[in-house]
Amino acid sequence: MKQFEITIKVEVLGYDELNSDEEQLALLAREATERSYAPYSNFRVGAAIALDNGEIVSGANQENVAYPSGTCAERSACFYAHARYPQAKFRRIAVAARGTDGEFVADPVAPCGACRQSLLEYEMLAGGPVEVLLCGKDKVYRLPSVVSMLPLAFTDF
Ligand code: THU
Repeated sequence: MKQFEITIKVEVLGYDELNSDEEQLALLAREATERSYAPYSNFRVGAAIALDNGEIVSGANQENVAYPSGTCAERSACFYAHARYPQAKFRRIAVAARGTDGEFVADPVAPCGACRQSLLEYEMLAGGPVEVLLCGKDKVYRLPSVVSMLPLAFTDF
């Protein structure tokens, strides 16, 4: 029997260990949680995406009374980013979340499966890694790429 293992690298950093671009993006993701519409879960998520044209696009989860119709922060951000700047390449994404107590979560939230697959599309279009920053209250998980969060990903490219 042959087998292989897939390992992913997750760096754990304090906010003071981020470079200035990363810190700015993390702060914008945290700020985007303010624009979440989450009356059903009270779980407010924000995402910010840095593009190669210098623009930063943010998004927040948008819920709906018909629950499945809502959208996560990551997808609201990536779909808007590509709709607004279809030529731009994604470079980095930051995600932050506040729990029902209104506080930023201690342990960073990671994107759901559908968001990972959606983000991967834009990483493939970018032709290079899109760095991922998962932002907790006092710590950040830094991953080198979207695909690292989606081992054995489906891709048609
Ligand atoms: N949510 C996100 O926006 N991103 C994630 O990575 C996980 C979950 C949203 C969906 C829903 O509005 C709320 O958080 C609770 O699941």
